[in-house]
Amino acid sequence: MDKLRIIGNGPLNGEIKISGAKNAALPLMCAGLLTADTLYLRNVPMLADVKTTQKLLQGMGVRVFTDNISEFEINGSAVNNTCAPYDLVKTMRASILVLGPTLARFGEAQVSLPGGCAIGSRPVDQHLKGLETMGAEIVIEHGYVKAKAPGGKLKGARVVMDMVTVGGTENLLMAATLAEGTTILDNCAVEPEVVDLAECLVKMGAKIQGIGTATMVVEGVDKLHGCEHSVVPDRIEAGTFLCAVAMTGGKVVLRHAAPKTMDAVLDKLVEAGAVIEAGDDWISIDMRQRPKAVNIRTVPHPGFPTDMQAQFMAVNAVAEGSSRVVETIFENRFMHIPELNRMGADISAEGNTAVVNGVARLSGATVMATDLRASACLVIAGLVAEGETTVERLYHLDRGYEHIERKLSAVGAKIERITA
Ligand code: UD1
Repeated sequence: MDKLRIIGNGPLNGEIKISGAKNAALPLMCAGLLTADTLYLRNVPMLADVKTTQKLLQGMGVRVFTDNISEFEINGSAVNNTCAPYDLVKTMRASILVLGPTLARFGEAQVSLPGGCAIGSRPVDQHLKGLETMGAEIVIEHGYVKAKAPGGKLKGARVVMDMVTVGGTENLLMAATLAEGTTILDNCAVEPEVVDLAECLVKMGAKIQGIGTATMVVEGVDKLHGCEHSVVPDRIEAGTFLCAVAMTGGKVVLRHAAPKTMDAVLDKLVEAGAVIEAGDDWISIDMRQRPKAVNIRTVPHPGFPTDMQAQFMAVNAVAEGSSRVVETIFENRFMHIPELNRMGADISAEGNTAVVNGVARLSGATVMATDLRASACLVIAGLVAEGETTVERLYHLDRGYEHIERKLSAVGAKIERITA
């Protein structure tokens, strides 16, 4: 299994190009199931989860072509299987996103239940409740969600989600585009990736009002058509590199970024002492001091994202002062704490709250993480730790970061992939 070897060294300087957002690319690829035409997607990051989605769609009969750089053509004219099997779903929970579009277009779908994951139980009850409200008959059998729409069509309805769920909003939004009548989705997630999906669906002929607000009204149409769409830049990848510079110091410009989707993270970096400048599609960070500790509380967008919590924990670990980090979205998302402590951090956690006492120095160690963002946190900690850090179990990182070692090396980091 691949590892990353990192030698802690000086400031980072230069430019990094940000990739398309994984969390937008996955639902956008699934939207290809909604039409018999071709969906042309640009700026798709070539990540393990994207490859898994490709396999999942191909297994259902979707034709998927890619240049293996950043473009995909997805054609759903020959779908001949409405089942998403366990062996793919278990490796990627986002597979549940095929449920809504498949059910809406073909009147039936079977998707393996994703089960628990490292960062919590992550149920999909809201996805299922919403589809049932739209008339679906759903049973859970042999570990699969088996859904049918009586008469082959979902029916427009009012769905109020019990909590803000990104995947739930995306699944129900896709389903509603082909339902009979009008669907009102309430308590929607307003994450930029949800907005990106909604904008692509509109280009495909969907009738959606209220995009980017908590209430979306969708008037179902008989058919959707193909379109061309460029995936929104990855705000979490961008935020991760900004945290890296906040720790190492230096000046880095991120290109192809979307600063307007990152207000909460940019504000926290300024509070930590960074000088941030931004234009439409670029962000620069200039860090000349030891970071100052900042309190963090994760909440749905536009608040501080749970996917940046681990990386800010790394910043706080070496910051001047003490901070509190509260995780309100997932119940088990602190697995990076023991690993950071092995590198010399001083962090204690009780329930969903961590108290971080900043230390002057971390020291390199062999560490591993059990989820994607925790892995990223350990990599950026390695950039400032004294000596050598080896980050194991890289497959988590490869699910969400495109060429992370190349991008960081290009701005001066000493980091290399060791292929076993
Ligand atoms: C998405 C992102 C993930 C991010 C998360 C929160 C993708 C592929 N992944 O995950 O990176 O960390 O949003 O921003 O986009 N919940 C339920 N019942 C449901 C659905 C969710 O109880 O039916 C709970 C979850 O357990 C969690 C919270 O709601 O506690 C938010 O989850 P959700 O927004 O659905 O996360 P994902 O869409 O899985």
